[in-house]
Order: sequence, then C-alpha cells, then structure tokens
Amino acid sequence: MRLGVNIDHFATLRNVRTEKLIEIESAVNILRENLVDSVTVHLREDRRHINEYDVKLLKKKNILPVNLEIAATTEMQGICIDVKPFACCIVPEKRKELTTEGGLDVKNQMKKLEKFLNPILKEGIRTALFIDPEEKQLEAVNELGIKVIEIHTGNYAKSFIQGKYKNDIEKIQNIVNIATSLGIECHAGHGLDFKNVAQISKIPNIVELNVGYSIICESLFYGLGSSVKKFKQLIG
Ligand code: PXP
Repeated sequence: MRLGVNIDHFATLRNVRTEKLIEIESAVNILRENLVDSVTVHLREDRRHINEYDVKLLKKKNILPVNLEIAATTEMQGICIDVKPFACCIVPEKRKELTTEGGLDVKNQMKKLEKFLNPILKEGIRTALFIDPEEKQLEAVNELGIKVIEIHTGNYAKSFIQGKYKNDIEKIQNIVNIATSLGIECHAGHGLDFKNVAQISKIPNIVELNVGYSIICESLFYGLGSSVKKFKQLIG
C-alpha cells in the first residue's frame, strides 16, 4: 500500500505570518527520506493554503511525484495542464467548507466532467475521481473511462469515533471489489488517522492512501519523520 502525504497544512501555518518560515520543499524532503511515495497538494480556488507557486516548485524540484487535488473548473484545468503533475485527483469544492466534505457527484455531471477531463487525460496525467463509496458513482466513473478512484473515507472516520463503523467499512469493501473487477485502481483518503487506518489498510486492493491532517498534527509533537514512519508501520 502506497502512502501519499497531503502537506496543505504546512502551507496553512506558513500563510498565517508574513515571514514565511516554512518552506514546504523541506517537508517534502523529509517525506522522501522516510519513503513516502507521493506528495499531495490541494490547490483551492481561494488559495487558503497551497498556491500555484508551491505547485510549480514541487513539480520543478521533483522530490516526490506530485498528486494535485483540484476542483473541476476551467482555471484548475489550465493549471493542471500547464504544470503536468504526476497525478491529479478531482474533488468537489465549496468555498466555505473547512475541508472537502464528500465525494464528487459524477453521475449528475457526466457531460461537464467529460469535457473537463479529456484535455488532462490527453496529457497522460494519472487522473483519479474522488467519490463516496456508492455503486452509482462508480458506474459513472466507469462510463467515463476513468481508471482510478479515490474513495472518500470521511464518513467512515466519523462513524469510527462512534464505534459503529461496520456498515461504512462494508460499503468501502464493496466498492473496492466492484472497481477492481472493472480494472479501476482504488485509493482512499480523508479523515484517516493513527487509530482508524488499521481497518482500511486491511481491505485488499486499496493500493494508495492519501493522508494529511492527522500526520501533520502528530508531527507538531513528534516531528514529521517520526510521524510518517509510525503511519507507514500501521499500514504495513
Ligand atoms: N484525499 C482528498 C481527496 C482530500 O480532499 C483530502 C483533504 O484535502 C485528503 C485526502 C486528506 O484528508 P485529511 O487531511 O483528512 O487526511
């Protein structure tokens, strides 16, 4: 199972002051030293953390493969084609949300997504759609011919806190089974942490996790290298 680490919140902390004491490039060097597979950044419309300069710098320095999370807008399509990251993941975005709140409604935006995705796919950029673990969304992904999904684990993470996560794990497992039979690669992410990741890492055929907030929080106390090492041990 590969691990991608989302470093958005290094940029969040950097952005609260003008002195800019955090160079995100240093974080990515530590990720690489600790055998993380890729670095994920979410370039939001409001640029609340990562900005274009960061994305371009990470691509230019090529420390780790860059996974660029973006909303399906014309602006983001242009940036993605210009930067040509190793991978991109298309997410829904609401200006007021604290973090991504759910998966893309692929089923109800087929035409729009097809138009958005085609130029990106032509560039050979590995493209994933971030979806809730629902069959109707997976069918729509398959219809679009997209070969990678990232399964939204946010609802599972919430139900884990209440100790009632069986149903959510079964939903994820079901989607992974169907996707795998369709030749669609499965990733997972959102809300994963040091406690809840064990159940997800037991699911066969999830080949990549993208994790941010919990690792960055842990790193404030124990350092980024130690936190990443600990997370990698948990996912095997
Ligand atoms: N995957 C996707 C598609 C996301 O939007 C996010 C949050 O930016 C993550 C993974 C990481 O989520 P978290 O920060 O909760 O680990």
